[in-house]
Amino acid sequence: MSDTSKGQPAAMVPLSTKPAKTRPVRTPGAKTACIRTFGCQMNVHDSDRIRRMVLDAGYAEVPSYEEADLVILNTCYVRENAVDRVRGHLGELTRLRREGRVKKVALTGCIGAAQESTELQRQYGIDLVLGTHNTYELAEFVGLPTMEETYTPDLPGTQGDNSAFVTIMTGCNYQCSYCIVPTVRGRMVCRPVESILEEVERLVRNGTSYITLLGQTVDAWRENGLKFCDLLERVAEIAPRIWFTTSHPSNMEDRTLRLIGEKETIVKRLHLPVQSGSDRMLRIMHRGYKAERYRRKIEVFRDAAPDGTLSTDIIVGHPGETEEDHEETLKLVEDCSFDSAYVFKFSPRKGTEAAGIPGRVPEDVVQRRFLQVLRKIEQNAFTRNRRRIGVHEDIYIRHGQRPDGVAIGETWNGHAVHVRTGAPEGHYVTAEITSAGPHVLYARDPKT
Ligand code: SAH
Ligand code: SF4
Ligand code: F3S
Repeated sequence: MSDTSKGQPAAMVPLSTKPAKTRPVRTPGAKTACIRTFGCQMNVHDSDRIRRMVLDAGYAEVPSYEEADLVILNTCYVRENAVDRVRGHLGELTRLRREGRVKKVALTGCIGAAQESTELQRQYGIDLVLGTHNTYELAEFVGLPTMEETYTPDLPGTQGDNSAFVTIMTGCNYQCSYCIVPTVRGRMVCRPVESILEEVERLVRNGTSYITLLGQTVDAWRENGLKFCDLLERVAEIAPRIWFTTSHPSNMEDRTLRLIGEKETIVKRLHLPVQSGSDRMLRIMHRGYKAERYRRKIEVFRDAAPDGTLSTDIIVGHPGETEEDHEETLKLVEDCSFDSAYVFKFSPRKGTEAAGIPGRVPEDVVQRRFLQVLRKIEQNAFTRNRRRIGVHEDIYIRHGQRPDGVAIGETWNGHAVHVRTGAPEGHYVTAEITSAGPHVLYARDPKT
């Protein structure tokens, strides 16, 4: 049965839930904090919860370390380069501390949940280390009343003006050979449906027009016979615009794919990580599906939403990957004609099965395979994007006008669009697509 968070009481959260608009402005002499986020959307969302605590404690948020009394690094552990980056930041913070600028450093997130954090704490004299399950303990550290244990998704954030994340599950029950996420995020916990719907309703009531449902295997969500598709359908009835990430092919039901096509409020954009096109590699990786099954899912999606966008994650150079396996991946990339992809070079993570598997792929081979996959993805994406030229699109403004006058929007098919408009975030403009690159569409100036 489902691992749910056992009907968490709406935990007494001694934090305000006021929206970002009322954030305190910086007053001279106020305590200052800088929050740096690494990693995936789960971390972006957790940083927002951290931000709520820090602001409630009377800190003003500042963009740079130099101005900050307190620095919080919300970290990622998924690949070795993520850890190297954090080490770079910790080195700089040590210097700033020596110069008497930064006073306290806290490390949260996925490195905080890993063994390696003990060593980092000692080496860099970090004041507080928290994992992903005990984020609520930050309250006391920043000077708020001690908080009772709270499931992280129940902590309020500051988001909610135009678009907001809503966490529906945490952790992951898979054991992919290469992946450290289950170690640092724990096993799957599904957030109760009432709690999710309550949050969505509250956000929409307060003017949020775009909801993204979040989870490491978001489509694995379930509760008492309800499955992800049922939840998605209910949220799609409430929210004016909705998307979800990240999905696992083994959990992705055809009815969910059809629902994406049917429901007007769901953005027709699917992120479905495949990792490899070779059945042999998929077995070694313990992904639980074959390439053919993945292809069939994509057919259902393309049929349900012919102009929708499809993205994926691919790992090249996993131990044991042969030239034939790589060819299979290239073939799958060609067949699925992805609109975009995150391509990663395998990074051995201590404690994962793949770190101990023989058959390391030489670095130069990994690099070549990486570029081959990347190029094929870009070619396909460019071809698909060019088909949008001449189409009039309703564009949701995600990021308002930059100094050069261009705003960044998103179509209902999930394409990113550059459009010259002063329309505020959360509003729509209608404009014709006039050109396309591999990653973005460009629109004619809309009539105002
Ligand atoms: N839960 C998601 C992805 C989580 S991590 C899923 O199952 O799809 C995001 C991506 O990082 C993965 O999809 C994978 O492509 C990549 N990744 C994870 N561990 C990795 C490793 N050790 N080396 C290289 N890439 C990795
Ligand atoms: Fe990692 Fe696999 Fe879980 Fe995704 S499904 S988080 S890749 S173990
Ligand atoms: Fe990184 Fe943790 Fe996300 S390891 S990818 S921040 S779940």
